[in-house]
Amino acid sequence: MLDPIRVLSMPVSLLTCFNALWFAHSSSAANFLIRSYGRSFNGFAANLTEQEVKELTSMKEVVSVFPSIPLQLHTTRSWDFLGLTETIKRNTTIESDIIIGVIDSGIWPESESFNDKGFGPPPKKWKGVCHGGKNFTCNNKIIGARYYTPANSTRDYVGHGTHTASIAAGNPVTGASFFGLAQGTARGGVPSARIAAYKVCDEVCNSEDLLAAFDDGIADGVDLITISLGPADTVDFFQDTMAIGAFHAMQNGILTINSAGNSGIFGPLFTTSISPWMLSVAASSTDRLFISNVALGNGNTLRGFAINSFSLNGTKFPLIHGKDASFRNCSKSRARLCRGCLDSNAVKGKIVLCDEFDGIVEAKKAGAVGSVLLNDAHNFVADIVSLPASALSKRNYSLVMSYLNSTKNSVAEILRTEAINEYAAPLVAPFSSLGPNYIVPDVLKPDLSAPGVDILAAYSPIASPSDDPSDQRRVRYNILSGTSMSCPHAAAIAAYVKTFHSDWSPSAIKSALMTTASPMNRKINPYSEIAYGSGHINPVNAVDPGLVYEALKEDYIKLLCSMGYKSDLVRRVSGDNSSCPEASHNVPARDLNYPSLAAQAEVSPNSNLTVTVVPAVLSFKSLNENKSFNVTVTGNALTPASFVSTDLVWSDGNHKVRSPIVIHTFQSINSTYQAPSKFSII
Ligand SMILES: *[C@@H]1O[C@H](CO)[C@@H](O)[C@H](O)[C@H]1NC(C)=O
Ligand SMILES: *[C@@H]1O[C@H](CO)[C@@H](O)[C@H](O)[C@H]1NC(C)=O
Ligand SMILES: *[C@@H]1O[C@H](CO)[C@@H](O)[C@H](O)[C@H]1NC(C)=O
Ligand SMILES: *[C@@H]1O[C@H](CO)[C@@H](O)[C@H](O)[C@H]1NC(C)=O
Ligand SMILES: *[C@@H]1O[C@H](CO)[C@@H](O)[C@H](O)[C@H]1NC(C)=O
Ligand SMILES: *[C@@H]1O[C@H](CO)[C@@H](O)[C@H](O)[C@H]1NC(C)=O
Ligand SMILES: *[C@@H]1O[C@H](CO)[C@@H](O)[C@H](O)[C@H]1NC(C)=O
Ligand SMILES: *[C@@H]1O[C@H](CO)[C@@H](O)[C@H](O)[C@H]1NC(C)=O
Ligand SMILES: *[C@@H]1O[C@H](CO)[C@@H](O)[C@H](O)[C@H]1NC(C)=O
Ligand SMILES: *[C@@H]1O[C@H](CO)[C@@H](O)[C@H](O)[C@H]1NC(C)=O
Ligand SMILES: *[C@@H]1O[C@H](CO)[C@@H](O)[C@H](O)[C@H]1NC(C)=O
Ligand SMILES: *[C@@H]1O[C@H](CO)[C@@H](O)[C@H](O)[C@H]1NC(C)=O
Repeated sequence: MLDPIRVLSMPVSLLTCFNALWFAHSSSAANFLIRSYGRSFNGFAANLTEQEVKELTSMKEVVSVFPSIPLQLHTTRSWDFLGLTETIKRNTTIESDIIIGVIDSGIWPESESFNDKGFGPPPKKWKGVCHGGKNFTCNNKIIGARYYTPANSTRDYVGHGTHTASIAAGNPVTGASFFGLAQGTARGGVPSARIAAYKVCDEVCNSEDLLAAFDDGIADGVDLITISLGPADTVDFFQDTMAIGAFHAMQNGILTINSAGNSGIFGPLFTTSISPWMLSVAASSTDRLFISNVALGNGNTLRGFAINSFSLNGTKFPLIHGKDASFRNCSKSRARLCRGCLDSNAVKGKIVLCDEFDGIVEAKKAGAVGSVLLNDAHNFVADIVSLPASALSKRNYSLVMSYLNSTKNSVAEILRTEAINEYAAPLVAPFSSLGPNYIVPDVLKPDLSAPGVDILAAYSPIASPSDDPSDQRRVRYNILSGTSMSCPHAAAIAAYVKTFHSDWSPSAIKSALMTTASPMNRKINPYSEIAYGSGHINPVNAVDPGLVYEALKEDYIKLLCSMGYKSDLVRRVSGDNSSCPEASHNVPARDLNYPSLAAQAEVSPNSNLTVTVVPAVLSFKSLNENKSFNVTVTGNALTPASFVSTDLVWSDGNHKVRSPIVIHTFQSINSTYQAPSKFSII
């Protein structure tokens, strides 16, 4: 399992290691069965030979056969920052009937965040069970538990699932902190809601387990599914068990909320959360940041970012760079990074400088007093450190370097972390995966942004709080960053909206969240809509959007057909005998009733958009009335891999129903696509 923030390796090719495993959408039995699905949809996962795949595919009753792919896992100032205060209007009776399905690494049932004091029995609609496995008991807060992993327990050994579940629905717990940092009340967005935990990850997560969790969650009667994990690489819907599971959920009235991914540093198109029937969530900062300063012997103090609970008690220690503290048999480049060859004798009693963040593990192992780390990519995101350490920007790190160069007896102190106000927030986190959408260029992803930077929430008390396995500390609350953390924020707000509108479809809830999202600052968020979609989630406004864009199963089928999917591929996603209607092949994907609009266009050095909307006024005479309108966007063509954006807002003076419009020239999977040199989309 990867840590919640950094995805260190480039995505691997998909079918190399798991090509023995296939899924079939069929109820017929098979040899070497690994999982069978039959509660919410028919199917099974099995090890098959190429020949067996061929035979199965040709069988009439088999709808689809597709290969398995591996997955990765990807408070509490955040709720107040969002306006979801402790005293916000809510109906706790209705809220306690909401069941949030958390597909993750399990949960720690004894955490105070999941205490069931004051909770009545599970909602009547609940059809699930507590199959928590070894050493696991449910209660009236955690009403369901299932595991699909070899460890035979829903207990969370890594902390990730406990963290995400408590962000969504944890009880308010006063006096929570990470060694005194971020002290306050840790609480979930819908603290009265119930949790059903589906454990699909220990160290790794498999797509067959994920699909089984969807199958069970849907049949158990969860209201929403939050899922903070994804594949290592973008895959087409018909091979993506997340997309397929979420499609079945959607058909059953369940919205799936998914993290956009943590591949932001790779640039546009790396989000793996792309299906239009899910809500895909980017991560942004709150107005609280955590800094750890480095005080140099020359009187300068440089700001760095880290969750550093240690204090050096006012003592300065000698500095040494990794390149001067490594064994001779170590290459220069590895030595600079503190990668695998620090000499304990050289770093003893010193603060070691490492040219990459991961050097910290080696610095601790070698017995350094502390470490100053270069981490330009992460800038304002503070990661937990396992010894006194701080991560500095390139510029500040080089200031430490030149001080080190300038004197024989360079010394420094690394100060304990303090929280500061960040007035520019929300800023999209640099790790948050960018859109637009590798598969459907006309459907903008991610959909919106929510807090995912330095979130305090419950944790597994048997897991290392940092990425350093040698970190012996154990905590009940931990501060983590990632789209894994923003996803359950959005899930809780979706649940909150649902308590006011029990009859809304998944797409209506999703639309409400998107069209009421607060605009984010384009100037300080350089990728703007490509990074944050519709904007920053706004729970208060989402309850009363005024207007929703609704899309049902048939609309999504038409969308797939319009993308050029033939009926056989459509059926892999839908799992039933759906087929493409005759005329739909000519309907562009942008005609999906989606709360944001994206379109691929091409080439121009200087572009501006003209947007016309016909009719300019929509008059509704009654509730639930449907209206349609045409949007025409014209402008000069764009340079490759660029975009321009604007907003479409429907307003009645009271509500503002806002949709971003993004015209882009990022390459999608359809490399044959040749856009015109001038564009006009309708
Ligand atoms: C399926 O194949 C994988 C390796 O490809 C193997 O580890 C696993 O045990 C097999 N499962 C069954 C049920 O045969
Ligand atoms: C909460 O909702 C229930 C069911 O609709 C209703 O009976 C109750 O009066 C509501 N409570 C409050 C405080 O609004
Ligand atoms: C069993 O549960 C207890 C909490 O009730 C926990 O402290 C312990 O670590 C668990 N044991 C294992 C092996 O997971
Ligand atoms: C989990 O249960 C299976 C089947 O009962 C057993 O074969 C396996 O050894 C168990 N694994 C662990 C880690 O206890
Ligand atoms: C570098 O340190 C200075 C001095 O503490 C601080 O003002 C600045 O914000 C830091 N730069 C970055 C990018 O963190
Ligand atoms: C700083 O003081 C604390 C509390 O007295 C102590 O636990 C810690 O070891 C000290 N740190 C160093 C580097 O001396
Ligand atoms: C490098 O040298 C150190 C100390 O002499 C030794 O412990 C280590 O095993 C060596 N590493 C390699 C890869 O040769
Ligand atoms: C410090 O000195 C080294 C040579 O020992 C040099 O490569 C490096 O550029 C210097 N760094 C700074 C920031 O002065
Ligand atoms: C799909 O199957 C259902 C029932 O199995 C049947 O009623 C329907 O006509 C079928 N539709 C198509 C397009 O084959
Ligand atoms: C749009 O046009 C204005 C003035 O015509 C120009 O200043 C601006 O740079 C243009 N914007 C883009 C994104 O090309
Ligand atoms: C939108 O455009 C289509 C095709 O030009 C036209 O048939 C339709 O009436 C228009 N709809 C509205 C609401 O203007
Ligand atoms: C790819 O683009 C070509 C040319 O624009 C188009 O004909 C084809 O339908 C597209 N295929 C898909 C799968 O979108």
